[in-house]
Parts: sequence; structure tokens; C-alpha cells
Amino acid sequence: MTTPTAGQPLLDVAGLRVTYGGVVAVADVDLRIGEGTIYGLIGPNGAGKTSMVDALTGYTRPAAGWITFGGRDISGLRPYRRARLGLARTFQSVELFDDLTVEENLLVASEHVTVASALRDLFLPQRPPDRTGVDWAISVCGLEDVTDRYPGEISLGKRKLAGIGRALARQPRLVLLDEPAAGLDTDESLELGRRLRSLPEEHGVTVFLIDHDMGLVLSVCDQLMVLDFGRPIAGGTPAEIRDDPRVIEAYLGGHHAGSH
Ligand SMILES: Nc1ncnc2c1ncn2[C@@H]1O[C@H](COP(=O)(O)OP(=O)(O)OP(=O)(O)O)[C@@H](O)[C@H]1O
Ligand SMILES: [Mg+2]
Repeated sequence: MTTPTAGQPLLDVAGLRVTYGGVVAVADVDLRIGEGTIYGLIGPNGAGKTSMVDALTGYTRPAAGWITFGGRDISGLRPYRRARLGLARTFQSVELFDDLTVEENLLVASEHVTVASALRDLFLPQRPPDRTGVDWAISVCGLEDVTDRYPGEISLGKRKLAGIGRALARQPRLVLLDEPAAGLDTDESLELGRRLRSLPEEHGVTVFLIDHDMGLVLSVCDQLMVLDFGRPIAGGTPAEIRDDPRVIEAYLGGHHAGSH
């Protein structure tokens, strides 16, 4: 992790385009995320939000565009190389291993094998794993009381936090969260919001947040982009977005089947 320097772009994206056959999921999007901020991405179902995260993290090869992270062009890098540079993500569905405890789920996510660590393990096989990132992620996500529990034994709210904990266990500079509040009740969503705010404010981690929970998104984000049919239709602070007629139209205008 690094010290946050708000305002400086950590992620700089130009002309990002994602297509699946004839479907244009993301249409030439430009994006700048300042380090030490929370950037929100909202839009109706099928707007292209997950496709954008897939392209940013290397899981989908974009048809066009450049992605610069921490001043470095990462456009052609494989997902694990991007992760090693400090780009972490969660997936839209909770991706915990059911037969591992919460703590074990974080531990497996934290391990990255390098030449140095492989050599160290060869010569010092009894050496315990480095728990720094895991212990930090447990504390940031408030998982202390469920570390030894299995995912099936804990609430959805805790499972969602454990999913975020997995992404944080490697101490990333930027974490991309794909609908972390889906299915949460009001109290769980409020707790999630408090913990997300602490990421930039107390830990220097920048956040990219996709969610349909407008209360959460409007209360925690510094900047927002509204995507519709793959195109940005509005952008700005939560106050600027809240009353934008294009946003109201995209959500309530009836040309979509509806958002969850
Ligand atoms: N693997 C794929 N193959 C073909 N089309 C896809 C694929 N993934 C997504 N799409 C299409 O691309 C468009 C954008 O989908 P995407 O999943 O990125 O939207 P989203 O904004 O994340 O939606 P949601 O809010 O429902 O998660 C949609 O039209 C979708 O049907
Ligand atoms: Mg999605």
C-alpha cells in the first residue's frame, strides 16, 4: 500500500471498448480514478458494468482502449500480473470456498508465489505464511468474530465482507467491487458503507464500486459514472448525479426490464 494522494489519477482509462460478437457492451469509455477516492459505477442491468471490470482486471480482452495503472500501461497484462501490481477485484457472485473457514479463504487468496517465496519455502519449509495482509483484511472488514466459521454458517452480510476481505488480503492499491451490497438489508448495507469509506480514508486503498443500492453508492462515492447501453450518460459527484434527468430516465424510463 502507499500513502493516498487524493486527486492524482491511479487508474487512467482511454477509449475502452468491449464487444461480444455483435454486442457492444462497453462503448469507448474514458475514466480517471483519483488515488484515495471511491469511484462509483452505476447503470441498469446489462449496461456493461461487469464487462468494464473484466476488461480493467484483464479477464476480458477489450476490442480497443488503453489502461494505465499507477502511471504504467497495463493494457496487455494478464490478470495475475495486474493483481501483483495492486489491482484486486471481487466477482458479482460471492466466491468463497465453502469447505474453508473465513480465515482460510483469506489465506489462500493472500498467497502469491514468487521466485523468492518459492526458494524460501524450499529452504525454510516450516516457515509460517506471512499473515500481515490477512490480519489487516480481517480487521478492516470486521471479520474477527467469524474467522473460524464456514461461509455456510455466517450471515450474507459477513459473507460479502469476507469476499471483500479476500480481495484485500494482498493489500491492493485499488479494489474493484462488483455489487457487494446485493441482497443486504439496510443495517448490513450501512455497515458495508462505513467499512468502504474507511478504505481510502484510513488505509489508502482506492475503491471502484458497482452497485444498484443507490443509498450506498450516493453516500460513499466521491465521483460517479452512470453507464447505459455501454455509454457514459452522466458523471460527477453524488449531488450532481442525484437529480440528473438522464439518470432518472435510465433507471425509470422503461426501456429496461428493471434493475435489481
Ligand atoms: N460473455 C458474454 N457473452 C456475450 N454477451 C455478454 C457476455 N457478458 C455480457 N454480455 C452482454 O454484454 C452486455 C453487458 O453485460 P454486463 O454483464 O457487463 O452488464 P452489467 O451492467 O454488469 O449488468 P448487471 O447489472 O445485470 O450485472 C449485456 O448485453 C450482456 O448480455
Ligand atoms: Mg454485472
